[in-house]
Amino acid sequence: MSESSEILILNGPNLNMLGVREPNIYGCETLADIEELCNQRATSLGLTVNFKQSNLEGEIVADIQNARVTAAGIIINAAGYTHTSVAILDALNISELPVIELHLSNIHAREAFRHHSYVAQAATGIICGFGAHGYVLAIDAMARLIECAE
Ligand code: DQA
Repeated sequence: MSESSEILILNGPNLNMLGVREPNIYGCETLADIEELCNQRATSLGLTVNFKQSNLEGEIVADIQNARVTAAGIIINAAGYTHTSVAILDALNISELPVIELHLSNIHAREAFRHHSYVAQAATGIICGFGAHGYVLAIDAMARLIECAE
């Protein structure tokens, strides 16, 4: 178990486009707005956040590998890779950290190809459909998981 109080928050492809990307589905907040929300919530709980976004699967895998020694838990919105990436699932399993899967939209109310998640197999729990507020809910849930693991 890591001594870290850092939560790694990973955001996958196209989430850098939040604010202009289909706001009817993903909301009007930018990723920078969401990062600010996360920092505020984490600080109020005595935690820190390492907030990252990548459009590249290999970069996300490398970030998960590094988290094994730097983070206390991982919150991941793997975006499109949620539904395709065995490599991200494998990396999450290797990390041996608590994992929360997160989506802005309710993936189960959308197209059938979004109903399956590889990430879910490595996750303690899943939060979806609450827009940007889901990130705050995920931090609260992760704080409990970290506390219980201590
Ligand atoms: C998403 C849902 C995914 O299906 C989609 O590919 C995304 C965003 C969400 O946050 O709602 O890029 O992860």
